[in-house]
Amino acid sequence: MRYKIAPSLLAADFARLGDQVSAVDGVADMLHLDVMDGHFVPNISFGIPVIAALRDLTDLTFDCHIMTSNPTTYLAELAEAGVDLVTMHVEAVADPTRAASAARALGLSFGVVVSPPTPWAAVEPFVELCDLVLVMSVHPGFGGQAFMPEVLHKVEAARKWVDSHGLTTDIQIDGGISDKTAPSARDAGANVFVAGTAVFGADDPALAVAELRAVIEGVTGV
Ligand code: DX5
Ligand code: ZN
Repeated sequence: MRYKIAPSLLAADFARLGDQVSAVDGVADMLHLDVMDGHFVPNISFGIPVIAALRDLTDLTFDCHIMTSNPTTYLAELAEAGVDLVTMHVEAVADPTRAASAARALGLSFGVVVSPPTPWAAVEPFVELCDLVLVMSVHPGFGGQAFMPEVLHKVEAARKWVDSHGLTTDIQIDGGISDKTAPSARDAGANVFVAGTAVFGADDPALAVAELRAVIEGVTGV
């Protein structure tokens, strides 16, 4: 299994965003960008101009987790800003099939996200449309929350579905991921790990990525 680490910029020092992106450039696999509107979730983070401003600093895959109402509205601007992958909440997107086509027409990869209270059955019909399925392990809106192990059965269901259909869809987990919680998500079948606080809350974000990767890969003594 190829494991990928996606540091979440939400936990970065916003006064030094460029430096924070550079700190994980070359060590992480993706940069996770949480866009919030204060409507779909009760918080406002950063938006499309901030993403565009960071694009020239790195070749990291820009993984945009959009937590807004009517997320499809922003697809063209996200593509223009240099996003590579957009993930939309199944709770927010009216028609995931249309959203996936619209994303692909703009050259974007596409994924769906499932919040903790939403059952796996709400996502399953759309997995075949997706490059990635994101299982939230906290309620969306804020970094630094405690990991919810009760969502792991959805990661297991996703892994079973993807493997039994011969697909290579990534299965991402987001919320409360650290060296303590990542192994259980890996064992359930996740292969992409979002980590905000565990990376940007550390003194050395690059080392934190390396350590998290080592724990997930089962290597000791980094
Ligand atoms: C929450 C965001 C997460 C958040 C994770 O809505 O989707 O990506 O940044 O932060 P940590 O890793 O601190 O739980
Ligand atoms: Zn996120």
